[in-house]
Amino acid sequence: MPRRILVTSALPYANGPTHLGHMTEVVQTDIWVRFQKLAGHECLYVSADDAHGTPIMLKAQADGITPEQLITAVGRERRRDFADFGIGFDNYYTTHSDENRTFTERIYRALQAGGHIVRRSVRQAYDEQAGMFLPDRYVRGGCPRCGAPDQYGDSCESCGATYAPADLINPVSVISGTPPVERESEHLFLRLGDFEAMLREWTHSGALHQAAANKLDEWFTAGLRDWDVSRDAPYFGFEIPDAPGKYFYVWLDAPIGYMASFANFCARTGIDFDQWWAAGSSTELHHFIGKDILYFHALFWPATLQGAGFRTPTAVHAHGFLTVNGQKMSKSRGTFVTARRFLDLLPAEYFRYYLAARLGGGLDDIDLNLEEFATRINAELVGKLVNIASRCAGFIHRGHGGRLAGALPDPALYAEFVTAGERIGAAYESCEYATAIREIMALADRANLYLDQHKPWLAAKDPARAAEVQAVCTQGLNLFRVLMAWLKPVMPVTAGRAEAFLCAPLALWRELEAPLLGTVIDAYQPLATRIDAAQVAGLVAAPEPAAATATPLAPAPAPVSLEEFQRLDLRVARIEAAAAVPGADRLLQLTVEIAGGERRNVFAGIRAAYAPEALVGRHVVVVTNLPPRRLRFGVSEAMVLAASGDGEGLFLIAPDAGAAPGMQVR
Ligand code: MSP
Ligand code: ZN
Repeated sequence: MPRRILVTSALPYANGPTHLGHMTEVVQTDIWVRFQKLAGHECLYVSADDAHGTPIMLKAQADGITPEQLITAVGRERRRDFADFGIGFDNYYTTHSDENRTFTERIYRALQAGGHIVRRSVRQAYDEQAGMFLPDRYVRGGCPRCGAPDQYGDSCESCGATYAPADLINPVSVISGTPPVERESEHLFLRLGDFEAMLREWTHSGALHQAAANKLDEWFTAGLRDWDVSRDAPYFGFEIPDAPGKYFYVWLDAPIGYMASFANFCARTGIDFDQWWAAGSSTELHHFIGKDILYFHALFWPATLQGAGFRTPTAVHAHGFLTVNGQKMSKSRGTFVTARRFLDLLPAEYFRYYLAARLGGGLDDIDLNLEEFATRINAELVGKLVNIASRCAGFIHRGHGGRLAGALPDPALYAEFVTAGERIGAAYESCEYATAIREIMALADRANLYLDQHKPWLAAKDPARAAEVQAVCTQGLNLFRVLMAWLKPVMPVTAGRAEAFLCAPLALWRELEAPLLGTVIDAYQPLATRIDAAQVAGLVAAPEPAAATATPLAPAPAPVSLEEFQRLDLRVARIEAAAAVPGADRLLQLTVEIAGGERRNVFAGIRAAYAPEALVGRHVVVVTNLPPRRLRFGVSEAMVLAASGDGEGLFLIAPDAGAAPGMQVR
C-alpha cells in the first residue's frame, strides 16, 4: 500500500544568506523525500522562510529598508540557492502570508477556548532610548557568578551559569548601548503542562529517535513551564486580535507556517487540506529539524496542534550540526560557507554525496572535513562508481552499434544487486544514509571486480570473442544502472544523466527488476570528474579580521607588578581528551597534560567554537595555580586561555610548533 507522507524542513530565518548548515538540513530531507517517491509512495515536501521576529525587524532597520523588502529579497535568493542544490520542494512559501495569519489566529482562538492560554504580567528589560523590550540576547553585561565581562543576558559563556538579564553586572542594551530599565507588561502564555500526558505518550510512540527521546525525558524531569507566546510592539509579526499592541511570538506562527505553506499548495493543486491535517488523519507528517530546535518541535508544536484540534506529527527527525574542518561555522574563522560560495566552486551534488556518506540518524554533529571530502569524491564517486560505466560504454559502441546484448551472462549477480535495494531502502527510511552509501560502494567494488575478472579490454582484441565482450559490458552497465538508481535520492541530476546515457528513464525502483537487454544506449559523457585540493580549499576563505570590540564594559584593569605577574603559573599543556558536558551547552570537559604525566581536569566555555574531536592532541596555554572551581558538573582544576571578541570570537591560545607540555609561559 503506498503511504501518503507530508514532509517539512525547518523554516530558515529570512535575515541572512543560505549557508551549508541550512543545506545540511534540506539536503537530508530532500534525500528522504526522493527515496519515498522512488519507493512508490505519495510524498509531498513543503517549507518556507521564517519571516518574523526581532532580529529581522532590526536587520531591516539597519539596512534602511522595510522588513517586507528584506524578506522578499532574502526569499528570492533562498529559492535560487535551494533550486541549485536540487531541492525538490512541492511548495516554498513565507510565514508572512495571509494563510499563516488565518491559521495562527484560528489556532490561538482554539487554544483560548480550550482554556490553555493564560495572561500574566512579566518584568522585562526595556531599552528606553530604542523604545522597546529587549529579548535576553539583546542585553549584555558581566556574569553575576564568575564576573566574566560581556556575557549574554541568559547565560555565561565562561562558567555556564544561567540567569536573568536583570542579574547581569552593569547590563547594557546591545541596540542603544544604554543600561536597560525593568518594565512590566502583560503577556500571554500557553499552559504546556496541560499536555504533559499526551506529550509523554507521543515521545515514546516512535516519533523520535532514541537520542531525541532521551532529551525529552530530561525536559519532563525538569518540569514543563508555561510558554510565553506574545511580544510587545514594536515587533515584526502578526498582531494578536484581542490584545492590541501585542504580537504573536515568532515561534508560535513559525511551525504553523508548515500548514500555511501546505494550504497554499492545496489551493494551487486542489489537494484536500483536511485529509492531511485533521485530527485522526491517516496520512503521515514528518518534520526534519536541527537539534537546537527540538524543544519547539517536540513539545510546543505537538501541544499546539493537539490543543487546537489538529493531528500531531508522525515523526520529528532531529539532526546534529555541520562543522567545517572540526570547527563551528563562523565568519570570523572563515569557516562560514554560504551555499552560493559552494556553488561557485563545486557541483552541488558533491556536497549531497559527501553529506549522505556522513549521516547517521542521530543527533551527532557532522563534520565537513575538506580533505576527506576531496578523497571521497575522487576515490568513490569517480574512481569506483562512474568508472564502471566508462569502462563498458566504449565496447558497446565499437562493434555493436551501441546495442546491449539480449541476455545477462550472470543473472544471479544482477539479482543480488537488485535485492540489496531492501537493505539500502531500510537505511534511507531510518535516515542512516551513511549505511546506504556504504552498501552502494561495496556493490560498486563488486561490479569493478566482475569487470576485472572478465577483462573485456583483452577479449576485445580478439574479433572471435565479440559476443562475449558485448555480454560482459551489458552485465557491467546493468549493474551500474542499479547502483545509480540506489544513489538517485542523493544525486538526482547525475542519476538523470546516467539514465539519459542508458536511454532508460527510471521513476520507480521496482522498474529495476527487468534488466536492460537488447536496447541501444547513447554515447558516454563523463558523469563526474575529479576535484583538486585547491578547489576545495577555496571553500574556507581567509578569516575576516575580528571586528574591533567597541563596548568597553569593564574598566581597564589596574596595573600589576612584575612580581604579581610572575606569580601566575602559565604553562603549555596538551589536550588529551575532550567531551561535551551534558546539560551545559557552552562547556567542554578537557583532560590536559600540564607536565610529563601530570594531568588536570578542566571545564572550558569553548563549546560554541570547538568540536571536542578537533581538540585532542592540541597544545594550549593554561593557568595552573588558580584555586580549583567547583561547578555543577565537577571541579575545574586549571584555566585554558582563549582570546575572545564580541559574540563570534573564541580563539584558543596555542604555542608555536615544538613547544611541549610543562614549558613555562612568560
Ligand atoms: N526559523 C527557525 C526554524 C523555525 S521552524 C518552524 C530557525 N531558523 S534557522 O535559520 O536558524 O535554522 C534553520 C534550520 O537550519 C534549523 O533546523 C537549524 O537547526 C538548521 N541549521 C542551522 N545551522 C546549522 C548547522 N550548522 N548544521 C546543521 N543544521 C543547522 O531555527
Ligand atoms: Zn560566568
